[in-house]
Amino acid sequence: MTNEIIRIENLTYRYAHTDKPALVDINLSIKQGEYLAIIGPCGAGKTSLALSLNGIVPHMTVGEMRGKVFVEGIDTTQSQVCDLAHIVGMVFDNPEYQLSQSTVLSEMAIGLENIGVPRDKMLIRIAEALEIVGLSGLEERSPLALSGGQQQRLAIAAALSMYPKVLVLDEPTSNLDPMGKEEVFSVAAQLNRENQMTVVIVEHEVEVIADYADRVIVLDQGQIVNSGNVNEIFSDIDSLERVGIRPPQVTAIASGLEKKGYHFKNLPVTLDGADATFSDWLSRSRP
Ligand SMILES: Nc1ncnc2c1ncn2[C@@H]1O[C@H](COP(=O)(O)OP(=O)(O)OP(=O)(O)O)[C@@H](O)[C@H]1O
Ligand SMILES: [Mg+2]
Repeated sequence: MTNEIIRIENLTYRYAHTDKPALVDINLSIKQGEYLAIIGPCGAGKTSLALSLNGIVPHMTVGEMRGKVFVEGIDTTQSQVCDLAHIVGMVFDNPEYQLSQSTVLSEMAIGLENIGVPRDKMLIRIAEALEIVGLSGLEERSPLALSGGQQQRLAIAAALSMYPKVLVLDEPTSNLDPMGKEEVFSVAAQLNRENQMTVVIVEHEVEVIADYADRVIVLDQGQIVNSGNVNEIFSDIDSLERVGIRPPQVTAIASGLEKKGYHFKNLPVTLDGADATFSDWLSRSRP
């Protein structure tokens, strides 16, 4: 595939002392600039897959890996996590666990110091990253005094300061209120659209995925059981329900109406899609 940034070939991973592998024969190619969403029920292997993208699996976990993960052509088993961190930035679900410093500035600086970025360049990178996530001016604040949404945007800024090509977000808003969720999703969307950042997001909020993702993969029991664009994945309500995922609200409403005898050309998965579907239905049903 052209512009491929990550390739996973026959990846199977089993954590030590477990019977079933967490990932089973995963094959996946991710394109530069793509916005890929990973969905699936609890324990499906979403986090394990996310961690395989920057080498945390297998370097920092105990278990057995088969198959290969290539990041920009680099075999992750032949590379160190700290080298892959330049290419793949990670943001996890709980922002507080990722923050350890007394000010926003020092929080931003620590990763850059670790990789030996000189101070003048460091200040430029920090200013750029804070600007992107909308936290400029808060450099002297304590990270713990920030709102949940701001903390998560700080975690994203810290990842961005490494100039990664891929940003992996593992349920980044699961501990945030609706406003914080919106802040994080819009920063991720902006990075993808304006900076051509490759975004890989593990997320439960199907409405958000339907709005932003180019492609969705569905994981269940460690396997990719479905993959496609948001229309293909979310309008196939039966397949979603088989793995315990609810469809977007507009899709559920349209599907419910179809059961009552309405006929739509296709099931909408976004609000804009619903607007088009219902307008079309109205124009066809007028005498
Ligand atoms: N460090 C570990 N040691 C042993 N087993 C693990 C470890 N981490 C995950 N697992 C197991 O691997 C499987 C996949 O877990 P993973 O956390 O990747 O799933 P997930 O889809 O992210 O789940 P969730 O929705 O709960 O976040 C599960 O059966 C889990 O119990
Ligand atoms: Mg998880």
